[in-house]
Amino acid sequence: MALCHLVPTLTLVVILSLVVLSYQQPPLDTAEQESVYQVLDSVNSAIPWRSLFPDDLCVSAPHGVVCDYPSESDASVGGNETARIVELNFGYLSDFTTNPPCSENATLNPLLFTSFKYIRKLFFYRCFNGSRVSLPDVPLSFGSSLEELVLIENPSLVGPLSGILRNFKNLRRMVMTGNGFYGEIPNLIGDLLGLEEITLSRNQLAGELPGSLANLKKLKLLDLSQNNFEGSIPESLGNLTELLKLDMRSNRFTGQIPGSFRHLQRLEFLDLSFNHFGHFGIPLFLGEIPRLKEVYLSENSLGGKIPEIWENLASVKRIGFSDLGLIGNIPASMGFYLRNLSYLGLDNNKLEGPVPEEFYHLDLIEEINLENNNLSGGIPSSMEVREKLELAGNRGLCLDDTLMNSKNRGGLGKLKPCNKKADIPHAVSFNGGSLIRFNPRFLFMSLGILFVFTCL
Ligand SMILES: *[C@@H]1O[C@H](CO)[C@@H](O)[C@H](O)[C@H]1NC(C)=O
Ligand SMILES: *[C@@H]1O[C@H](CO)[C@@H](O)[C@H](O)[C@H]1NC(C)=O
Ligand SMILES: *[C@@H]1O[C@H](CO)[C@@H](O)[C@H](O)[C@H]1NC(C)=O
Ligand SMILES: *[C@@H]1O[C@H](CO)[C@@H](O)[C@H](O)[C@H]1NC(C)=O
Ligand SMILES: *[C@@H]1O[C@H](CO)[C@@H](O)[C@H](O)[C@H]1NC(C)=O
Ligand SMILES: *[C@@H]1O[C@H](CO)[C@@H](O)[C@H](O)[C@H]1NC(C)=O
Repeated sequence: MALCHLVPTLTLVVILSLVVLSYQQPPLDTAEQESVYQVLDSVNSAIPWRSLFPDDLCVSAPHGVVCDYPSESDASVGGNETARIVELNFGYLSDFTTNPPCSENATLNPLLFTSFKYIRKLFFYRCFNGSRVSLPDVPLSFGSSLEELVLIENPSLVGPLSGILRNFKNLRRMVMTGNGFYGEIPNLIGDLLGLEEITLSRNQLAGELPGSLANLKKLKLLDLSQNNFEGSIPESLGNLTELLKLDMRSNRFTGQIPGSFRHLQRLEFLDLSFNHFGHFGIPLFLGEIPRLKEVYLSENSLGGKIPEIWENLASVKRIGFSDLGLIGNIPASMGFYLRNLSYLGLDNNKLEGPVPEEFYHLDLIEEINLENNNLSGGIPSSMEVREKLELAGNRGLCLDDTLMNSKNRGGLGKLKPCNKKADIPHAVSFNGGSLIRFNPRFLFMSLGILFVFTCL
């Protein structure tokens, strides 16, 4: 009885699902299908794409060619919507990707920028690396639905950035690294308000940065490293408060590192090394960026002493302050506060005085490079040499018996043995009374050292 009652309902369900099925899978627009073949041929004409994939490309396509069907609302409004291409991925064939591989004479087909009205992602990885391929002048109408533009390691793809940047209202990721792009960053970039990532590293981009970059409030990642950018970094970039990573390494930036960077409160990675920043010292704002994990300033003429800014930086893992013209002592507070530090590079400066005894607090340290300074005294005997401790080029430094006999002396250079009478380091050279109050462990360990030395 119960079953009989269900029959009409079941029939209805079956009919409905048939309707829905046939409705959900309209064929790919024939013009788009033809354009896909042409684009595939210009990427690699040695593969017979048309005979390998003769049917509707939304039913059977090479990996990397991605279709989407119109949403139900589109369909009920238009009724005649077709399927469309939403992603095209090409390039390097490896065990990890089976995207259509590019041949040596691959070209960038202009149809890419005219035929696919619904394209959301364009991806070319290690595709253009032979004869020179110029960026076509991309039409103004291109890319209203583009969300990701990814061109990676295409050294022979050349052209000005202004040739490809259009009004990509929906663009979230612009990843164009290792190509032959030149020219300035166009002001227009400040209109692409959806951008969360800009990676333009390893091109030949030049000129000053447009202030309009500061409009991009959603930006989390800005990587302009290894280009020829010059001038000062706009103070307004301090407005990019969502930034997690800022990489400007290896350019020709001059002037002062903007103090407005203190507003980048979420920043975890900052690399400004290998530039021409002037004699303004290590920026104090670093001490106000609580989530900082890595900071690299090496090879700038910043000068000055290492400031006492480490109190709130327990999260810092890596510090690169090589070749900055630093003078004065290494602050003992670095050893005391930077409990998560794994790499410290202070080499090729003019630092003097002792290696702070407090460095023995650095439980997670893997490498300390202090080469080519003017440090003096003994190496704290309580400090374990882990992966690497590089000390060569400090004429005043000496090795005590423990380190002298250690097997793990790699990188210690030809340090002379300490003269026992003269050079026993102070057990507690960091005179932080308040610190001792708040940190019983510090007190305990310091007492331990005092005890050891007394017993000796
Ligand atoms: C690429 O070179 C091959 C020969 O090596 C040639 O047959 C093919 O037509 C060329 N393709 C393009 C797009 O120029
Ligand atoms: C749907 O059909 C209408 C009327 O024939 C036409 O104007 C419109 O361009 C079509 N839409 C698509 C996406 O083909
Ligand atoms: C470009 O080609 C050269 C020579 O075949 C190769 O060594 C190099 O790794 C290639 N570069 C990229 C980015 O694929
Ligand atoms: C951006 O920062 C600059 C200088 O730091 C400031 O004067 C300006 O008001 C800020 N602009 C916006 C839109 O927040
Ligand atoms: C130190 O590193 C550990 C392990 O990576 C992490 O769990 C911890 O949160 C870090 N401490 C700070 C203060 O960031
Ligand atoms: C190295 O430091 C000593 C004092 O410890 C000083 O007398 C000497 O001038 C310094 N040498 C250089 C090259 O700075």
